[in-house]
Amino acid sequence: MNRKDTTARIAHVFRGTFVHSTPRAAVGILQNCVLGVDDEGKIAFIEKDQDVVSLSKLWGFETSDIKQLGQYEFFMPGMVDTRIHASQYSYTGTALDLPLLEWLNTYTFPVEAKYKDLGFANNVYTKVVRRTVKNSPTTACYFATMHTDASLLLGELADKFGQRALVGKVCMDSNSAVPQYKESPSECKEETDPLCKYENKNILSDCFAPSCSSSLLSELGEIANKNNHISENEEEVELVKTLFPSCKSYTDVYLMHNLLTDRVNCNGPTDEKLEIFRETGSAISHCPNSNISICSGMLNVRNVLNHKVKLGLGTDVAGGYSPSMLDAMRRTLDTSKTLTIQDPQHKTLSFEEVFRLATLGGSEALSLDDQIGNFVVGKDFDALRVNVCVPDGPIDLFPGEGPKVILEKFLNLGDNRNITEVYVAGRRVVPFPDT
Ligand code: GUN
Repeated sequence: MNRKDTTARIAHVFRGTFVHSTPRAAVGILQNCVLGVDDEGKIAFIEKDQDVVSLSKLWGFETSDIKQLGQYEFFMPGMVDTRIHASQYSYTGTALDLPLLEWLNTYTFPVEAKYKDLGFANNVYTKVVRRTVKNSPTTACYFATMHTDASLLLGELADKFGQRALVGKVCMDSNSAVPQYKESPSECKEETDPLCKYENKNILSDCFAPSCSSSLLSELGEIANKNNHISENEEEVELVKTLFPSCKSYTDVYLMHNLLTDRVNCNGPTDEKLEIFRETGSAISHCPNSNISICSGMLNVRNVLNHKVKLGLGTDVAGGYSPSMLDAMRRTLDTSKTLTIQDPQHKTLSFEEVFRLATLGGSEALSLDDQIGNFVVGKDFDALRVNVCVPDGPIDLFPGEGPKVILEKFLNLGDNRNITEVYVAGRRVVPFPDT
């Protein structure tokens, strides 16, 4: 037990069970522990609870201030949604009958064009942020629309509800079935530049190659915000081949435009592409609900992990019909099992591995793992307080079930009724202050 020189004061101390992942262990269960959060929202200590009196003297808190978790409660790190199209939230749960390219022109672009109207944007963005904060992601990587004002509004709403958010303005100048929903490369650059500087918020650019000309991609490569698509489905890959005939592959399109530097979303990467992703530090956002819902394909996550490429999970609302990261975890397991049914040699993912992908993996994919992702001293306290035994809840427990079974039941059966509190950077954001 030691205390580095710091003037920070302790804001919260919790005692009970903490479940998280580390690079070595997909699930680490820390029982009978005390965790202190300082007034900057960072984890000050996490220790066994044998000697809370000495700890309280060392850190200057009262033992009576310790918040004790119940027998069926635990804390886990907040989940990270690495891809969610906030602008598509109004039609989530519908419009799942077309493959990606037709789906974009039929449903997505006409709705995204409406975000010119800030009243419309405010209504949908308030609802998506409220819904997601309650449903598990403490961090969301949001895709907005082409509109700068509405994109800024989304960032402000995330701040208001206390969610950690990265917001990306969409950039596109080609192949939109909605004539007013595109802009020129220079307009796009002018609008994106100030967004990148906005209060240090990481504002990203969504580059969907079929919607961008080569000159737009080059402009964006100079800004080098990095959130791109690669190979959603075969039809898209074929389209990209005709649009960019001088590039060897879809990956090559981004490589050639200096955009393959950080985060990508893809489905069927070859081993060769995975090597490029690893070398460039690119990460994959795996969105299994959307992959199935709009018939894009099934990603072999095991192969990605074997190549040591960073990978996080995403809901990809509204291509994916659920804004819940618990759903993203379950679909990841379903896809992995489907791959095993097709090929018994395939090594199915375990629920523990998927837990790591939804938390630490997501933080790595967004390059935030120095700040969030697990319960390590010095990181921000982004956490879910889970109670598997709530009145009228979705989970039944039986004698002899230990913490690992309780975790597994929550991941497979739980919902937001079991998430009784949400903390982001040490601040309690759920329950909402107004409820
Ligand atoms: N817009 C461009 N590509 C995509 C995608 O893959 N998913 C969603 N939800 N929207 C998109």
